[in-house]
Amino acid sequence: MKSEKKKEIDGLTDGVSDSTKCAAGLSPQSQGLPLSDRFPQSQGLPLSDRFPQSQSLPLSQSLPLSDRLPLKETPALEGSVAWEAPSNIALIKYWGKYGQQMPANPSISFSLKACVSQTKVHFKPQSGGGVRFSLSGQQNPDFQTRIEKFLNSVELHYPWLREYALDIASTNSFPHSSGIASSASGFAALALCVEQIDQHLRLTAEQGSAVHHPEPSAHLADAHFLNRASQLARLGSGSACRSVYGGWVQWGMHPATPESRNEYAIAHQSAIHPVFTDYRDTILLIHKGVKQTGSTAGHKLMEGNPYADARYRQANERIPRLLSILASGDLTEFGLLVESEALTLHALMMASEPSFMLMMPNTLAAIREIQAFRKQNGLPVHYTLDAGANLHLLYPAQHETEVMLLINNSLMQYCENQAYICDSVGTGPRPINPLV
Ligand code: PMV
Repeated sequence: MKSEKKKEIDGLTDGVSDSTKCAAGLSPQSQGLPLSDRFPQSQGLPLSDRFPQSQSLPLSQSLPLSDRLPLKETPALEGSVAWEAPSNIALIKYWGKYGQQMPANPSISFSLKACVSQTKVHFKPQSGGGVRFSLSGQQNPDFQTRIEKFLNSVELHYPWLREYALDIASTNSFPHSSGIASSASGFAALALCVEQIDQHLRLTAEQGSAVHHPEPSAHLADAHFLNRASQLARLGSGSACRSVYGGWVQWGMHPATPESRNEYAIAHQSAIHPVFTDYRDTILLIHKGVKQTGSTAGHKLMEGNPYADARYRQANERIPRLLSILASGDLTEFGLLVESEALTLHALMMASEPSFMLMMPNTLAAIREIQAFRKQNGLPVHYTLDAGANLHLLYPAQHETEVMLLINNSLMQYCENQAYICDSVGTGPRPINPLV
């Protein structure tokens, strides 16, 4: 058993033992982490298996979930769908919401390549519906309740959910409770599955059982499909709506991007400088485990935060600034902006009532090392933070060797179990098996 586990780790970290390379996956030092919830298939996938992203739609062509006509009669079918979707990291942060998971300000993120969830949904007719959820083969009452609540809340848009039983099996490529949010990748993968089943039932209802269904991968070129999946994912977890696309993604309306909407995210495909298309993100796992305050409570606290209005104004001003940086490739400006965004997010947490602090002493110690390294070497290595203590180290692919030395010599000591995850900008979700 032990040797099998060791083998899995070796496979995953191939190349990482050369301390100058950051191959996608976990650091070799992270062997203490539970690996049982990892999807072996997600390692080493050729990029050619992934699909180009569709263009986002102008508003006139977009189809909000509420525009949908209900099925006159739900066909009785049984089958399975499965999708992989990435986690994402925001550079301009969404913090504060209103109504049904609408963002108080627009945000921009990129989708990750190595941190993904894979979700398979088996559907079969069952009067009254029903949901069974497992994570890495294990039932989990908390997740079960959250998924049930989510699916109940969207029955209005997907009425067939009342007539189908869903068996949902999910796994993450990154360790559970490592401080990396799996809600974004998990809800995005589930939303893609539900939307695919919906399309399948609709096509059958409209054209009969002999209908030819498109290959699941064709959905990736269908902007309506992705917009709807993004809206659905948003209702599960706000930032999940950005995870139905690859590359650089915006969620939230801003005049600089006329096609942007609060209801769903859009992919930015044009005007991205080549340096940002495979930008590296090495995630330093400073502190694993459950956070002291979750994001739902955090968003809520923005309602009484005295700096809220100024923050929303600032985020809006920063959207065109980041878009122009992404086009020009100006890494100095990039660093100034993203580090300020990270610290602003945490400053907002500290300024709310009750206040809370998610950074740990080792977060600050690692930030000091990064600043000193930058001063000494002049290299563009910057950081961002999520709502937690972990640091995302951001740098161009060409500086991987130098940054890996920095990690091995100076930063790894601040990581719990010396663990970090090598990641980078990814190409987005993909179907992982055909409809059967
Ligand atoms: O999607 P939520 O509700 O978990 O909120 C995510 C909030 C941040 O990760 C801090 C910022 C963001 O834009 O992803």
